[in-house]
Amino acid sequence: MTYEHIEVKPIAGALGAEIEGVDLSEDIGNAVFSEIQQALHENLVIFFRDQDLTPDEHKDFGRRFGTLNIHPQYVPLDGHPEILPVLKEPEDTLNIGASWHTDVSFLEQPSMGSILYAHEVPRAGGDTMFANQYLAYESLSEGMREMLADMTAVHSDRVLSNPSSAANRNEGRSTLIREEAMTDEEIVNEHPIVRTHVETGRKCLYVNRAFTTRFSGMTEEESKPLLEFLYAHAARPEFTCRFRWEKHSVAFWDNRCTQHYALNDYPGQRRAMHRVTVNGERPV
Ligand SMILES: [Fe+2]
Repeated sequence: MTYEHIEVKPIAGALGAEIEGVDLSEDIGNAVFSEIQQALHENLVIFFRDQDLTPDEHKDFGRRFGTLNIHPQYVPLDGHPEILPVLKEPEDTLNIGASWHTDVSFLEQPSMGSILYAHEVPRAGGDTMFANQYLAYESLSEGMREMLADMTAVHSDRVLSNPSSAANRNEGRSTLIREEAMTDEEIVNEHPIVRTHVETGRKCLYVNRAFTTRFSGMTEEESKPLLEFLYAHAARPEFTCRFRWEKHSVAFWDNRCTQHYALNDYPGQRRAMHRVTVNGERPV
């Protein structure tokens, strides 16, 4: 695909590209919008530098791609229920997203994409890694792909809401869980392990360590060995890219065909982001 309105510069072999020539605070026209969409489909995660976005402009950009999600667990930004503050203060020990995952996969209709905007970043550290789940699927053996073809897996939000974990009691972390979400009641949904992306038509692997608990019809113990293999396989280094944030960078990833991992390697420093999460469709 050639681009007429934006410049697209891949940052790794597997996925990820920096986009130049667009100001996301402006009302982008249809031609630019469709090139951004194309760049997202081709690169799975796209990055923009030096953007100056108010919360309303951030939400307006997200709304071009779909309706916005209000996170069921985290406390939102004051006055902006659709904005999730992703915040780590210098004294915090925990961040959010420090395991390979795709956002809110426990919902019946999980997210299509997340748009994260950096207000303040550490001097170094706090990078985010992404992994291409088309490649993860395509590089499995034929036998494994056939076995997984008709299987589904159970996804649960318990890692976020179960009050037995310190983070869920709001200890050591500044991105807070709502009081009413601290409950043993789980949001549970089942999704295909091999999902077909509705826009690209490509198949990808759709299980993640944070939210997938077991295969449908099997116990957690029975599921664990194969899930562990799939988690490790899904994050092989050659399927990944790593993004170094700067103040006012934006990352926009497709949650349907990627996983990501937020590194917690900047003790004593502050990292402050805003996330807008675009709703998606039920995986098929
Ligand atoms: Fe995330």
